[in-house]
Amino acid sequence: MSEPLLQAERIVKRYPVRGAGVVHAVRDVSFELARGETLGLVGESGCGKSTLARTLVCLERPTSGRVLLDGADLAALPERRRRALRGRIQMVFQDPFGSLNPRMSVGELVGEAFRVHGLPAGSGSVRAAVGELLELVGLEPALASHHPRQLSGGQRQRVAIARALAPRPEVLICDEPTSALDVSVQAQIIALLRRLRAELGIAYLFISHDLAVIRQVADRVAVMYLGRIVELGPDRDVFGAPAHPYTRALLAAVPSLTPGPLARLDGEAPSPLDPPAGCHFRPRCPRAQPDCGARLPDLVDTAPGHAAACLFPMEGSSC
Ligand SMILES: Nc1ncnc2c1ncn2[C@@H]1O[C@H](COP(=O)(O)OP(=O)(O)O)[C@@H](O)[C@H]1O
Ligand code: SF4
Ligand SMILES: [Mg+2]
Repeated sequence: MSEPLLQAERIVKRYPVRGAGVVHAVRDVSFELARGETLGLVGESGCGKSTLARTLVCLERPTSGRVLLDGADLAALPERRRRALRGRIQMVFQDPFGSLNPRMSVGELVGEAFRVHGLPAGSGSVRAAVGELLELVGLEPALASHHPRQLSGGQRQRVAIARALAPRPEVLICDEPTSALDVSVQAQIIALLRRLRAELGIAYLFISHDLAVIRQVADRVAVMYLGRIVELGPDRDVFGAPAHPYTRALLAAVPSLTPGPLARLDGEAPSPLDPPAGCHFRPRCPRAQPDCGARLPDLVDTAPGHAAACLFPMEGSSC
């Protein structure tokens, strides 16, 4: 197999909180992303998805662990080389309004991304390149003179995607890119991201709290709980025969994805400031047994390419 495009190696991120202790937001997360692949990352709010995403694009330094792009450790590179590689991994955020400077026009916002990263070889003026990029994301080039407040939520997200595409990235980290949008607009943005993947061969880490959205886009799925990946595998396995009770419970919350009745998820996720001893899912797990309180289960293979962090994973059963 060729070398993965992006590798997260044992990423840990802790935040000291004055008077309260330490928030362990990301705990020992490892995964690989191949060229052109879409890995869906799903989990409840607060489980560490955005923190992990920020460490991947160097917006935050992990407490420990490494992020490798094409085998190169971004954090260890000299500043000039890091900047050159930085354009190859870009991020799209949930709130396009918050990520776009309201005082700048669409043309300036997209043009700024070209100024930061440089125009691609062979392109003409910034203005022409901006127009091409707006067309690529399904916007009229005439919108270049508009400001973010004059756009709909979907149009603003398209501008944010155009900015992210300016340096011709190979990896796009999409953090809940449709969560702030109406359902019909969500579908349009997902269709756009799928088309860009087909046309440009971009790899995505696609983050959502919504399994139904992940189902539409992902080749492989990583399920996160309290800062850890608790299940990882091809989408057909994770959706068709989930091995971890938490994944089953998440599926139960989306009736359209589950043909039979499943136990729903009770209660809130425990605080990352004070996780339960042993398996972190134990207080909510319908399959919990006394052994589950003794240690944190490792993520181990339950089938080829499919792993779960559970002492008593479900085997081969389809739901
Ligand atoms: N800068 C920070 N300081 C302290 N705690 C933080 C900080 N950023 C995130 N957290 C905490 O880390 C945990 C994970 O947050 P986050 O990554 O935003 O989760 P998600 O994106 O899955 O909703 C939460 O408990 C959150 O409160
Ligand atoms: S280790 Fe035990 S408590 Fe944790 S998910 Fe598996 S069965 Fe449930
Ligand atoms: Mg988040």
